[in-house]
Amino acid sequence: MTFTQEDARADLVAAPGSEWWRTAVIYQIYPRSFADASGDGLGDLPGVTAHLDDLKDLGVDAIWLSPFQRSPQKDAGYDVADYRDVDPIFGSLGDFDAMLAAAHERGIRVIVDLVPNHSSDQHVWFQEALKAAPGSPERARYIFRDGTGENGELPPNTWESVFGGGMWKRVTEADGTPGQWYLHIFDESQPDFDWTNDEVRAEFRDVLRFWLDRGVDGFRVDVAHGLIKAEGLPDFTPDPDGGSMGGDAEEVPYWGQPGVHDVWREWHEVLAAYDGDRALCAEAWLPTVEQTALWVRPDEMHQAFNFHYLETEWDATALRDVITESLRAYGEVGAPSTWVLSNHDVVRHASRLALTAENPQGAGIGPNSPGKPDPVKGLSRARAATSLMLALPGSSYLYQGEELGLPEVIDLPDDARQDPTWFRTNGERYGRDGCRVPIPWTADAPAYGFNDTGASWLPQPAEWADLARDAQVDDPSSTLTLYRSLLAERRVRDLGAGELEWLDGFGDDVVAFRNGSLLVIANLGDDAVELPAGEVLLASGPLDGDRLPTDTTVWIAAA
Ligand code: NOJ
Repeated sequence: MTFTQEDARADLVAAPGSEWWRTAVIYQIYPRSFADASGDGLGDLPGVTAHLDDLKDLGVDAIWLSPFQRSPQKDAGYDVADYRDVDPIFGSLGDFDAMLAAAHERGIRVIVDLVPNHSSDQHVWFQEALKAAPGSPERARYIFRDGTGENGELPPNTWESVFGGGMWKRVTEADGTPGQWYLHIFDESQPDFDWTNDEVRAEFRDVLRFWLDRGVDGFRVDVAHGLIKAEGLPDFTPDPDGGSMGGDAEEVPYWGQPGVHDVWREWHEVLAAYDGDRALCAEAWLPTVEQTALWVRPDEMHQAFNFHYLETEWDATALRDVITESLRAYGEVGAPSTWVLSNHDVVRHASRLALTAENPQGAGIGPNSPGKPDPVKGLSRARAATSLMLALPGSSYLYQGEELGLPEVIDLPDDARQDPTWFRTNGERYGRDGCRVPIPWTADAPAYGFNDTGASWLPQPAEWADLARDAQVDDPSSTLTLYRSLLAERRVRDLGAGELEWLDGFGDDVVAFRNGSLLVIANLGDDAVELPAGEVLLASGPLDGDRLPTDTTVWIAAA
């Protein structure tokens, strides 16, 4: 009997309220750094296919792939030139279809990244816009404006790019004269679309259908808080302490504008016309959990990344508060809360949780950063933090390599760095390369098994041999074994669909809760804590007899 996409789909339809994305553990693949079948030093789609069994063995429910569509790679693929094709560095549409079918055969769902806020400056529409006249329909797909100053020599407003520098670039008109300016929230190679334009909206509904027709299970939607800009584009200067996504700032005229909700309602309809519970997940950096929950009202998106959880310090009170608030706010709109600790934009949590200085999102860490992490403390905290996260009800996101306990790579040579942030801030911010280094599979192989040629688009540290998958897979105390055990136990006890009940009596520095048949106790304080009676199912680090040491989480079977 031949297994078809339709067979896979039939298994994917769930009763309302039990859709897969409510409880799934979703593993983020950053394709250029996951596995490189072609050997050119950049990961690719056949590399993903070749490792699906490893992901099945890890125990994840779904994968999310960062962009692999056609792109000049000015922002590692978040600058898309053709939304309906695979970039040759990652393979072909045929490779994508093969990967999708192989994932579905293993019961792994697949979410793809969609980047609607901006395209690449190489996108055919932007090239047409450059050639067309001010006021033309071609320009109206993007945000072109006349400059200010006597001769239009100053940008239209004061906005600053997330990656550093201004948010506007002046073009040269077809007749060779200095002309209008276009808006780019990110790099100047990433012009923003005008989402009040019906042609832009129709185009993206069609792009959604293109990938849905191929069989994807959903989309991670890039910069979901940025599509609509405030009427009149009023001046705004970001708070330097507000984080690079402006996450702490209120009233930012290009973030969180109410007009985006109409877009999500349109997209919800597009997905609803397909069978099999397809999902939209918002990448939305917003000031509060409450505000983010508006993105996942019943007729909008299905999930939003919980960046408030990711940004919470290693502090028991702060964690209890953000968990309580998340379950309340998302619960009130009928959406699951999601949980996440690492991704391709932030310092890996095995380093971040031991930083002793402020680290605004997107800044990264490098040789001259203050407050560099103690790697041993970082790894203990990361293991404890993940053990806590995977016991929470809802859906969790993992970032490739965290299951190996990978730390941020701090000492990348300056001339290896590629993040536009590094260039646009003249090296003031290191950017995100340190969390994007190709991951190690085999200790004793070229590029640690990332490929078989030894090429790697970012250099891998010598210490990573010990962290390679094959060095961890049979070691009962390895981080990989911990992740596999957590995911297996989570599945058996259906923790994603459970309910959280706080447990008292452990002191302020402890996070303790019950989820169904499981007690979870995480000790964030300096002193060891007495454990309650019960069978210890797993622990993130060694126990001290019947005491729980600092920076350790334990799962205990409830009596
Ligand atoms: C958010 C993505 O996660 C990040 O990597 C990218 O640089 C920006 N959006 C711009 O697309």
